[in-house]
Amino acid sequence: MPPLLDGKSAIVTGAAVGIGNAFARALAAEGAAVTVCDVREDVHALETEGVAALAFVADVRAPDDVRRVVDGHVARFGGLDVLVSNAGVWRATTATDDLDKTLDDYEAVVGVNLKGVFLFGRAAIPHLIAGGGGHIVNISTDHVCTCGTPALRPHENAPDCPWTGGPPRPPGGGPAMDLYDAAKWGINGLTIPWSKALAEHGVRVNALCMGATDSHMLRGFHGDGPLPPHTMRAEDVAALMIALLAEGPQGRTGQNINVAVGHRIDLPPPGSPYIFAEASS
Ligand SMILES: NC(=O)c1ccc[n+]([C@@H]2O[C@H](COP(=O)([O-])OP(=O)(O)OC[C@H]3O[C@@H](n4cnc5c(N)ncnc54)[C@H](O)[C@@H]3O)[C@@H](O)[C@H]2O)c1
Repeated sequence: MPPLLDGKSAIVTGAAVGIGNAFARALAAEGAAVTVCDVREDVHALETEGVAALAFVADVRAPDDVRRVVDGHVARFGGLDVLVSNAGVWRATTATDDLDKTLDDYEAVVGVNLKGVFLFGRAAIPHLIAGGGGHIVNISTDHVCTCGTPALRPHENAPDCPWTGGPPRPPGGGPAMDLYDAAKWGINGLTIPWSKALAEHGVRVNALCMGATDSHMLRGFHGDGPLPPHTMRAEDVAALMIALLAEGPQGRTGQNINVAVGHRIDLPPPGSPYIFAEASS
């Protein structure tokens, strides 16, 4: 059987290191021609045997950079089938921050985590439609979608959520996460309407909402300290993303897929309580 994404192509943002790099590798391993982009100068194309690849140094906040990446990808590969909007940054920001500090933080944190997803979506969508359908996977966080979110009930594989037992984890991140969480909650405002607008074009739009996953960002967050128990592996989250794509054109859309630390990393059944929005019918 040919690999899942044989003849298809994908763009992954923020793919020099971390989870984005694992997403790009997983897509290439499934046969996709993959374009990666990152602000890091050391971003490099992931050539795998028989599959072409591109890399761009680009800032997801800059419209000209976004056009350069998407147009460059389409010029090289003739279309686009999968967009994984992964680039993200975290900074400690909180309610009592000074306004000047906050303005810079806003541009950085909301700029990358929300505006970047918005710009890449807008640039990619015409090509996904022109190709007869495809996938957008926006990378969110479990802060927007925990087992303690009131409207949600635990996944059958996570009956007592969260991490290591105990009471359900309430939604939201810590007190120093206001801009990060605002941006990630904002992704709902793109994922859900896009899923409705694009259903008729065969474009599925979902978000992955994972908990602590080993990456450059997570290691920076914990300094020299140990990573939390049950920290997930980027490769396992990437395998889940592939399983989401493998559902095909009739698969779920408009959903936040919770990936709970300490529990099996798999797709909840379609239509499970972990849904934020049903696909438009
Ligand atoms: N690691 C976790 O525990 C965790 C949990 C939930 C969600 N996430 C999300 O997963 C995504 C990937 O995070 P990660 O943990 O791999 O982080 P990471 O810092 O290891 O990787 C993020 C990548 O994005 C790139 N990037 C940052 N700003 C950019 C910009 N302006 N333009 C282009 N690229 C840019 C970075 O250079 C880096 O290569 C992020 O959206 C993050 O919010 C991470």
